[in-house]
Amino acid sequence: MAFDIDMIKKVYDRYEERVNAARKMVNKPLTLAEKILYTHLWDGNATETYVRGESYVDFAPDRVAMQDATAQMALLQFMQAGRPKVAVPSTVHCDHLIQAKVGAEADLQRANTESKEVFNFLGSVANKYGIGFWKPGAGIIHQVVLENYAFPGGLMIGTDSHTVNAGGLGMLAIGVGGADACDVMAGLPWELKFPKLIGVKLTGKLNGWTAPKDVILKVAGILTVKGGTGAVVEYFGEGATSMSCTGKGTICNMGAEIGATTSTFGYDESMERYLRATNRAEIADAANAVKEHLTADAEVYANPELYFDQVIEIDLDTLEPHLNGPFTPDLATPISKMKEVAEANGWPLDVEWGLIGSCTNSSYEDLSRAASIAKQAIDKGLVTKASFGINPGSEVVRYTADRDGLIKNFEDLNATIFTNACGPCIGMWDRVGAEKQEKNTIVHSFNRNFAKRADGNPNTFAFVASPELVAAIAISGNLGFNPLTDTLTNANGEQVKLDPPVGDELPVKGYAVEDAGYQAPAEDGSSVQVDVNPESDRLQLLEPFAAWEGSDLKGLKLLVKAKGKCTTDHISMAGPWLKYRGHLDNISNNMLIGAVNYFNEKTDFVKNQLTGAYGPVPATQRAYKAANIGSIVVGDENYGEGSSREHAAMEPRHLGVRAVLVKSFARIHETNLKKQGMLGLTFANKEDYNKIHEDDSIDILGLTTFTPGQPLTIVLNHADGTSEEILANHTYNEAQIGWFKAGGALNIIRQNAAK
Ligand code: F3S
Repeated sequence: MAFDIDMIKKVYDRYEERVNAARKMVNKPLTLAEKILYTHLWDGNATETYVRGESYVDFAPDRVAMQDATAQMALLQFMQAGRPKVAVPSTVHCDHLIQAKVGAEADLQRANTESKEVFNFLGSVANKYGIGFWKPGAGIIHQVVLENYAFPGGLMIGTDSHTVNAGGLGMLAIGVGGADACDVMAGLPWELKFPKLIGVKLTGKLNGWTAPKDVILKVAGILTVKGGTGAVVEYFGEGATSMSCTGKGTICNMGAEIGATTSTFGYDESMERYLRATNRAEIADAANAVKEHLTADAEVYANPELYFDQVIEIDLDTLEPHLNGPFTPDLATPISKMKEVAEANGWPLDVEWGLIGSCTNSSYEDLSRAASIAKQAIDKGLVTKASFGINPGSEVVRYTADRDGLIKNFEDLNATIFTNACGPCIGMWDRVGAEKQEKNTIVHSFNRNFAKRADGNPNTFAFVASPELVAAIAISGNLGFNPLTDTLTNANGEQVKLDPPVGDELPVKGYAVEDAGYQAPAEDGSSVQVDVNPESDRLQLLEPFAAWEGSDLKGLKLLVKAKGKCTTDHISMAGPWLKYRGHLDNISNNMLIGAVNYFNEKTDFVKNQLTGAYGPVPATQRAYKAANIGSIVVGDENYGEGSSREHAAMEPRHLGVRAVLVKSFARIHETNLKKQGMLGLTFANKEDYNKIHEDDSIDILGLTTFTPGQPLTIVLNHADGTSEEILANHTYNEAQIGWFKAGGALNIIRQNAAK
């Protein structure tokens, strides 16, 4: 599980030179985010000033982290790269595939049976290619990363949107799709739009019932779920340095809920304490030696409005605890107003469950503060009205919390201790009665509370709060309960008041664990066999895609002309399909089933030009594939917006779609298409979208002289025998044209690795 101190020292060694070069280049003081980015440029020292929110820049991340659901396709792709080992330190964490039902032991056992083949596959790939493997039960990816791998001033990518959690330890940590993770593990640069910068100044200090969670709940209320899009949020001020490192992690974690690229804090003593407490004194010493580079230049925090694109100020002295929800994490209500707001909106006041945990709020400090409320309840003769569920963030946290009596405090309230895993946060919760879809309220310390997320019930009103507030509200069983002012009636009929929570930033007796759940990879993995059953319906090894045949593409059948919004969810639906993430052929049965057919306004109902019959998109495409006929997908504006899910590009590629021609692309999806060796083209004249007929056979000409900046010619051969020519633009550069010709970027990497 060892962190790579040599790699970290190398990063720190280049800080001085690169930060100085960048400062000279941009000719102004630098924020922390800029220092980290300029120090991680793929090409070395800064030679140009990048435009925030516009320039696309290649970076060299220090680490990659993957969770079990997204790691499957990332690793299947990586196996295609032909490398003996990953190019940067990488880890896999088994946390998403464990359902919370009766309690940790039985739930873990069941998951180990049900998802055995996935865990075995991930474990064997990790072993072979030098990737650290965290077994089911070891903990939630972001908590484990914070405890073991995050380091101040580092740049990390991870195949999960809450990778951003590691900003609590002064990193820039960014959530990406599996294709990006694959590239970085294969030794390629990683491209990011140079972010905008939002500064959040925290004055005063947290006190009483207010927790780090309330800072981000407040920020989410101000910025809303889109307010941070394309930006790095950098926190600073007395309120930042006086807060624990894991508390900073909570704030950065939920930066994903405001759409931020990531969030971070400058290196400070809380981070040093956390590094030393988690057996990483070497990193603390190395960071101390370069600490002036691991935070912004002093002028930046003195005059933030000059250096950030937007500045927000929050006074922690007066910040109230908040509850955000229901159904969206940016609907922020201070606890003093909750009763009134809930009554006005008709939100159910009876609280049925209080859930503590998730990657957002499952640190030792979180559990200790919530446990202090649980203990008070017992001591004051209260019984909990709601049910309690706890998901510790890691085995280290669970073991230590158990040793220190915190788990017992929860158990005394009849809490169910679930596995150290995501559980209810990702809908892996077998909640009794959820299928009745009754209107009800739950409170939790997670990050997301969209409809159906926790228990699949669209009528569950979920509210997000700090663990200590979740504990208090669950004990009261009332959403409108304000522990700062209200009393509760105990078993003797007395009115009792809960005192503010107390807790330990770090365990006084230190962290402890018997088995953290880590499996180190083999020194030499060359003889390790990757474990995939050829009969499996969940896993399938990938075959390299075929190279371009060297001629223009002719006679492509129109598969579907998508009308209006066509996001990655429309192209590759989630939900029950997630099970097949590691099996390209099976998951391809969801290809474009959400796209609306322009010609009949229906989804998943298109004309098979070979038979004239209408049917599902995947089956129609499979018929073209069987007949060895290529096809083309036509789309509207911003095609492929949404997530960076690589399946949305891999599925059409796998089933034989050759090109996607649209009015405009969401950039990440366009790049994913290019990586898979597809043609992603845009109408030179958007009106030409209207010229596409349902029975068209389409030629793409000009591929033998495919050149950056030169449009391609599209010939629309209509069923009535007429034809017309239109132009299609593209954004392929020389390297990307190489990807197209080779049949995909991975084919190039593999060819290079073989040299
Ligand atoms: Fe897991 Fe929920 Fe975090 S799904 S990684 S605990 S956001």
